[in-house]
Amino acid sequence: MLLRPGTLNFPLSPAEVWGREGELVLEVGHGDGRFTAEIARRHPGWNILGVEVSAASVARALKRMRREGVTSVRLYHGEAAFALRNLVAPRSLSRVYVNFPDPWPKAKHEENRLLQRSFFRRLSTRLAGGGALLLTTDHEEYWRFAQAEARASGLFAVETPPPPEHHLQTKYALKWKEQGRDFYHAVFTKTGEDPQPWPVLERFEMAHALMSGTLPELTSFDKQIIRFDGGTAVLLEATRDLGGGYFFLTHVEEEDLTQDVLLEARPSARGLYVGISRFGAPLVTKGVQQAVAWLVGWLEGQGLETVQRSY
Ligand SMILES: C[S@@+](CC[C@H](N)C(=O)[O-])C[C@H]1O[C@@H](n2cnc3c(N)ncnc32)[C@H](O)[C@@H]1O
Repeated sequence: MLLRPGTLNFPLSPAEVWGREGELVLEVGHGDGRFTAEIARRHPGWNILGVEVSAASVARALKRMRREGVTSVRLYHGEAAFALRNLVAPRSLSRVYVNFPDPWPKAKHEENRLLQRSFFRRLSTRLAGGGALLLTTDHEEYWRFAQAEARASGLFAVETPPPPEHHLQTKYALKWKEQGRDFYHAVFTKTGEDPQPWPVLERFEMAHALMSGTLPELTSFDKQIIRFDGGTAVLLEATRDLGGGYFFLTHVEEEDLTQDVLLEARPSARGLYVGISRFGAPLVTKGVQQAVAWLVGWLEGQGLETVQRSY
């Protein structure tokens, strides 16, 4: 039920992930998953993808799906913009639900809002013809902002009917109901498509090298910043592993994706292996490759020789 993107092909194949074809529906920021479970019960034929940045909420929602016997929901722990671009095939989505998105009320934080122009542009390439995003919120200003952004994209028609009753049963809806707040709803229906295709992230099979020579004895390691076209990788620190090698804690920032990965340099049967540790099932992206390439170059500078490389 929880998707591990490191082990999946992008975009997701419904047959592989849900075991069947079906209408694809996305919920962004599902929180504890009660709305997700509810739409799964109402529409047994839907293949539902939930995307949520909070690990604690993903865990709660997963438990709920198990407890309530919901089998048509797959959850992804991560950013909506990344998921939309990489997990969802072009023109394959019929619906997107966004209930009570974080409002980021201060003007200087507006850029953090989910429903902004660039999101609508990206969304237009993933929605099928006639597909729509449904927003429900207690925040009037955000509701107006989202409408203005969608209209400015030139790719959506906007309607503002009252919110359907079952959208007002989420954890946040119930909380705001108790406080007597008003609710706002908008339906954004795709009318056009952004000319930019928003291609999926380029991934690589692997990034490693075999080296010969003796690993240096490190007494310290200075943070290294590697800039490349499309992002930055930072090797933060090196730690000894008990097998006689080193781990390098590395932070990689690329468009739409931030990963903390472990690189490793360790003795193996075929020589010194320098590459990515499988810990955390990272995505092997250009940034990860660049970090490995830097490490190999650095070890060459310490007198080791590269016997074979795979990047
Ligand atoms: C105010 S809560 C609403 C939760 C739930 N929809 C409800 O109505 O009870 C907003 C949720 O969106 C999630 N979130 C915020 N930004 C996100 C993003 N960029 N991608 C995925 N989830 C996000 C937060 O972690 C949080 O769980």
